[in-house]
Amino acid sequence: CYISSDCCSKDSLNVLFYILFFQEREIQTLSAEVESLKNPQNLNASARLEELREENNKLKYRLNILKRGLQEEKTNCSHAMLNINQRLQEVFGEAIRAACPELDNPPLVVAPNQQAKFGDYQCNSAMAMAQMLKAKGMKINPREIAEKIIQNLPDNELVQKTEIAGPGFINIHLKRQFVSKLLSNLLVNGVKPPPLASKKKVVVDFSSPNIAKEMHVGHLRSTIIGESMCRLFEFLGYDVLRLNHVGDWGTQFGMLIAHLQDKFPNYLTVSPPISDLQAFYKESKKRFDEEEDFKKRAYQCVVRLQSKEPDFIKGWNLICDVSRQEFQKIYDCLDITIIERGESYYQDMMTKVVKEFEDKGFVQLDEGRKIVFVPGHSVPLTVVKSDGGYTYDTSDLAALHNRLFDEKADIIIYVTDSGQAMHFQLLYAAGQMIGWYNPQVTRVEHAGFGVVLGEDKKKFKTRSGDTVRLMDLLEEGLKRAMDKLKEKERDKVLTPEELTKAQRSVAFGCIKYADLSHNRINDYVFSFDKMLDDRGNTAAYLLYAFTRIRSIARLANIDEATLKKAAETTEVLLDHDKEWKLGKCILRFPEILQKVLDDLLLHTLCDYLYELATTFTEFYDSCYCIEKDRQTGEVVKVNMWRMLLCDATALIMAKCFDILGINPVDRM
Ligand code: ARG
Repeated sequence: CYISSDCCSKDSLNVLFYILFFQEREIQTLSAEVESLKNPQNLNASARLEELREENNKLKYRLNILKRGLQEEKTNCSHAMLNINQRLQEVFGEAIRAACPELDNPPLVVAPNQQAKFGDYQCNSAMAMAQMLKAKGMKINPREIAEKIIQNLPDNELVQKTEIAGPGFINIHLKRQFVSKLLSNLLVNGVKPPPLASKKKVVVDFSSPNIAKEMHVGHLRSTIIGESMCRLFEFLGYDVLRLNHVGDWGTQFGMLIAHLQDKFPNYLTVSPPISDLQAFYKESKKRFDEEEDFKKRAYQCVVRLQSKEPDFIKGWNLICDVSRQEFQKIYDCLDITIIERGESYYQDMMTKVVKEFEDKGFVQLDEGRKIVFVPGHSVPLTVVKSDGGYTYDTSDLAALHNRLFDEKADIIIYVTDSGQAMHFQLLYAAGQMIGWYNPQVTRVEHAGFGVVLGEDKKKFKTRSGDTVRLMDLLEEGLKRAMDKLKEKERDKVLTPEELTKAQRSVAFGCIKYADLSHNRINDYVFSFDKMLDDRGNTAAYLLYAFTRIRSIARLANIDEATLKKAAETTEVLLDHDKEWKLGKCILRFPEILQKVLDDLLLHTLCDYLYELATTFTEFYDSCYCIEKDRQTGEVVKVNMWRMLLCDATALIMAKCFDILGINPVDRM
């Protein structure tokens, strides 16, 4: 009664859980009795044994039906997209454990199949299991194991059939109706993330340029990658704290303030016109290197700043503000949301943190410095310099403590270039050594990335050999995007507003996508020509493909309300090969997100988006969505289930763009 009812209240789920729980207990008790009856001394057992076996089988059968009911109930209740791969892993995991109870940790490998003729997914566990059994002295053919796995498959809602291929691969064919139902679910409920067991807090430390210095391409990478990670976590329902760990507390402020005092003596009352902070920085650095008196004063300024003398704080704030405004221009272009919490924020906490390390006996003195060695590393952290000042290490230790204990983060991610990998290894090892966190419970990770290279494969520089200013780079992107749009004569079709919107979408979308679509671990070559090419895996191609899909319904005069209604009433047919391929591709979205969540490699999402766009093209080329009269061009037939497939593709593509921080436009 509970299974067949349409209601999906919490109560019915609870009741199902109870029934399952008691049935499983009953089965366990019966199995124990069966075991005792197997004892050869128990002569009158055979009749009772038979009886129990039969009872047991009945119970197992009922249990399977209940489990399946529960699964269906879960799918219906959550409205979330189902991760098909994960569900297959549950089903095959159960079968594998039942097939080989003698293996403690049998390998579970389920993956989507690239070639359709081999089925939709594949389970490759049998081969590895045979190896494990061999190590235990049991020689069993992997095909035989595959056979056993199949025999033990629990009753489930998604597998149509299985077959064994080659040395012991299990090809899995999904039920068409099941896939079609998932697509309808997506169309009706929208792209909903899988439910989270508990709300987790994530801190993403990204962008993090240095005050008074130019934000460089490395910071651009961090900004783009970090923003996208935040969007992914936010979509999945995490509580995300986006932090800009700007370098705002170094010794460089001594010379900057000293120079400020000389150049703009009335800086306390009249805001100094330092628009070019770069030049200002260079001037003060030159004096610091050349003038002994100035150097001395610079050091005094640092001390007075760190003891928070109001006039020095004021000067420091003035300088920070100029930088802040510069950074903000970049963030506005790229649509970046971030909270500034620079090194200075942790100033007071640093003293406490150093004390904790000292109290616990981790600090050693080394030529006036205070250093901390961590297990497994020969390089120490420097927590206090010989002049008593704190370092990058100290502020990061304080920040880590703050994020763990005050922010109560479950996940902390640092997005910087891989050059800082060692710094973070030391930091994390220190945090664990002092007992601040357990890596099994709290995920603290450095998401490092490679350097940006120019097209000559050398360090990214301007023609004259200077470092590229980010704002200049973004402006060049805008110019190039406009050239491209004009080359395609889009200026003749679009209104001026539409054209500007398309220009920004293409320029910034391409810059972001070029970065995100490459494995972040590798160095990457920055090339406007490549990123603006509208063929291949580029934002230009994808944005164009997306507007085209969106226009299909519009050109057929089908409005959103009609599509919405159709989603509820029209079955999504998947009889054509290309429909089937597209349907499955659309539904792999949750599986892809899970992968990105695990390894924080966003290029997987880009690869998927590109695959989805090309799979769509294949479908669109061979399946008519709308049939038109050849003479009049009038629409004579709309194949609504195919319009729904277009719509589902667009929904997923839009969500991918959203996570990647790319803004698609209606007309391009
Ligand atoms: N400001 C540093 C830099 O420009 C990056 C800071 C990264 N975050 C951190 N918590 N260390 O290299």
